[in-house]
Amino acid sequence: MEYSALLLILVLVSLVVEAQIPLQCANIETLTSRTCCPVPDLPDAGPCGANLGRGSCRPVAVPDSKFDAEQKDVRVNWPIQYFNSTCVCGERFGGVDCGECSYAYNDGGNCERKTVLPRKSVAELTDEDWREYVAVLLRAQAFPSRYMVVTVNFTTDYQTLVDSMTRPSVYHMFVWVHYTASNTPGINSMHDMAHQGPGFPTWHRLLILWFERELQVMLGDHLFRFHYWNWLDPTQRDVPFTPHRLGATVDTIVTGDLVDGNWSLICWFDKRNFTRPDNPVWPSYADYQFALSIKNYDVSPYNALVKCTEESYRSYMEGFLNERGADCGDDPMCSPIHNILGLGNLTARPTFLQTGVMGDGSASPNDPIFINHHTMVDCMLEEWIQKYQVGEEAYPTSRRIKYGHRATDYIVPFIPVYQQKEMLVSADNFGAFGTDCSVSATA
Ligand SMILES: *[C@@H]1O[C@H](CO)[C@@H](O)[C@H](O)[C@H]1NC(C)=O
Ligand SMILES: *[C@@H]1O[C@H](CO)[C@@H](O)[C@H](O)[C@H]1NC(C)=O
Ligand SMILES: *[C@@H]1O[C@H](CO)[C@@H](O)[C@H](O)[C@H]1NC(C)=O
Ligand SMILES: *[C@@H]1O[C@H](CO)[C@@H](O)[C@H](O)[C@H]1NC(C)=O
Ligand SMILES: *[C@@H]1O[C@H](CO)[C@@H](O)[C@H](O)[C@H]1NC(C)=O
Repeated sequence: MEYSALLLILVLVSLVVEAQIPLQCANIETLTSRTCCPVPDLPDAGPCGANLGRGSCRPVAVPDSKFDAEQKDVRVNWPIQYFNSTCVCGERFGGVDCGECSYAYNDGGNCERKTVLPRKSVAELTDEDWREYVAVLLRAQAFPSRYMVVTVNFTTDYQTLVDSMTRPSVYHMFVWVHYTASNTPGINSMHDMAHQGPGFPTWHRLLILWFERELQVMLGDHLFRFHYWNWLDPTQRDVPFTPHRLGATVDTIVTGDLVDGNWSLICWFDKRNFTRPDNPVWPSYADYQFALSIKNYDVSPYNALVKCTEESYRSYMEGFLNERGADCGDDPMCSPIHNILGLGNLTARPTFLQTGVMGDGSASPNDPIFINHHTMVDCMLEEWIQKYQVGEEAYPTSRRIKYGHRATDYIVPFIPVYQQKEMLVSADNFGAFGTDCSVSATA
């Protein structure tokens, strides 16, 4: 299918993109009723497959009764401004209309069996695996998403919302989802609902699961899985960066199959020249073991100002290189990976796009190494969850936590909806990893 990124790029430049609406609910009737409870394509299913026992249409319960009207930020108390009811699916079922299997019961059939497909280290992939994977990525930039993007500020003139909608590709929707969670749409300020707070690990966990499902559906292959890039292991750091993988740098120009396939970027406005230390400090296994030793998930003030010494696993794992994170010293974990790759000296460090998009937090998923990096981050989260045998109760419930990161906030901007705390459970609940995504075991 042909698809042009141009329209989306143009509307994104205007910075008023507002929401991600499933195709089934991107119509005036659904928007007017504020009820996104579609009927799955199954005989006599009823809304949310209720007649088949798959799910039911339920009011969404948001932490506050009203959204932040002054800010006009539809992400606050997501998705209440658009929808006050959505499908809630039973354990085995999933998708916007409960017509799919849940992440855990994704058996390619009737959702009867739990299916665990362990992720691998990218170091285990063969050249043929990489060739297929790069083809999947390129196809995802050309294949239409199952979601529409609203490109105007919210209004109850629903026709205006519908008229403004645009349909990006599967891959560009993935970039956009990250971008919009990180920035306040329509407003010239930042309120980040995916980073610098307790939702960092949980938000990205859902992103990876959701995008993996979008690609499974695109491919018609429920076995498709992402793999993790273990940058803790010095021998694996260069593995993804060859011409037939995610690209290589030759004479400061990035080349390879993705570039030849006209890989395109969206949502990327901040093209300033980043600078970084000449000799990047990669996180070490010792850093990682220290992170694993922190038992508290997060502590006050639940943001980037939490000092590493204050026993916050989340803050330490997320890592900050700037002055706010000075207390992290040489130890911060995950954010530096973006900087090493995105801001890097191209001669010394291959990076997919010479302009450094991986170093731009909001738009970084434009560089597909983001996927393998965040699959790695998720492996680490899982190892921590397993070590302390914790679940939802470990997610802090303080009222000081910023919008979007609160325990019962629905993760922005996803439909079907999941609360932040629901992602802080063993990955067995999502059919991911199995038992062998143990990062420390490879040390
Ligand atoms: C949802 O919104 C619609 C339209 O404004 C309203 O009629 C309905 O009562 C609301 N339902 C709930 C559960 O709040
Ligand atoms: C959208 O809302 C914001 C915040 O109120 C405002 O600054 C901006 O101009 C609006 N954009 C449009 C296109 O109306
Ligand atoms: C990439 O774009 C160039 C220039 O428009 C075109 O000649 C080429 O066929 C494209 N390659 C692919 C794989 O689409
Ligand atoms: C970034 O640096 C390169 C190389 O020094 C230079 O050619 C380019 O103009 C700079 N871009 C900006 C936006 O400053
Ligand atoms: C980049 O790295 C190469 C190889 O390590 C080095 O020779 C070069 O001086 C570096 N360039 C800059 C601008 O740091």
